Amino acid sequence: LLHTKGKQDLIGKTILISAGKTREFMDPVRFIGNPSTGKMGIAIARAAIHRGAKVILVHGEVIWEQPLGIQTVLVVSAEQMHQEMLRHLPNADVIIMSAAVADVKPRDHSTEKLPKQLLPTSLPLVRVPDILADLAYHKKPNQKLIGFAAQTGDIITPALEKLRRKNLDLIVANPIDRTESGFGNDNNQGILIDKKGNQQKVPLCSKLQMAHYLFDFVGENIYLG
Ligand code: CTP
Ligand code: CA
Repeated sequence: LLHTKGKQDLIGKTILISAGKTREFMDPVRFIGNPSTGKMGIAIARAAIHRGAKVILVHGEVIWEQPLGIQTVLVVSAEQMHQEMLRHLPNADVIIMSAAVADVKPRDHSTEKLPKQLLPTSLPLVRVPDILADLAYHKKPNQKLIGFAAQTGDIITPALEKLRRKNLDLIVANPIDRTESGFGNDNNQGILIDKKGNQQKVPLCSKLQMAHYLFDFVGENIYLG
């Protein structure tokens, strides 16, 4: 483990990070969402700043104290996150999607609150775009794309599948079925896997330490130009 030992190895680089959750409202008081708090993405932003990078953070609702020196963009839905990530993509050297994106949204949306008597007992859903896969499609070869895989049970097999299917340079596989790490926790653990097949286990540690493991691994295995 290198961490930086004070060395700023990301000077001159711009890191575009997504953090937190997206929400898909069916009316002003009801939505589809997930338990993400944004702590992992914010830790990545802090680590990147510490290492000398410029950071753009596109985030859904998160629990935080506003980090200093970071350009932030607040979004609600996956569609908004998609637009903002595409808007900032041309400026980024590294793109990291740590946000937990709701995979589906209610097919119908009401701007007025629906009385409960009018609520359907089953909800028609439609898929939202896969932001990460679309970033892979639009990015230039010298831009490096990092995704997360939130898994229960075996984390490696589905993470490898996502790495290939979404055409990523690196994936962070992390278990979300543990009490000591994952959604909302200050700690995390998992495995870093790059597209060449290099793997690095990240032991249970703070999310900030995990972010530094990630940038160490990038420094060792991915050429940023
Ligand atoms: N992701 C995304 N857009 C989506 C869904 C996911 O950009 N609509 C990104 C996440 O930010 C993460 C990666 O894709 O970096 C993997 O997310 P995950 O939920 O683990 O995988 P999915 O492809 O959505 O598959 P599933 O939920 O079925 O496991
Ligand atoms: Ca998903």
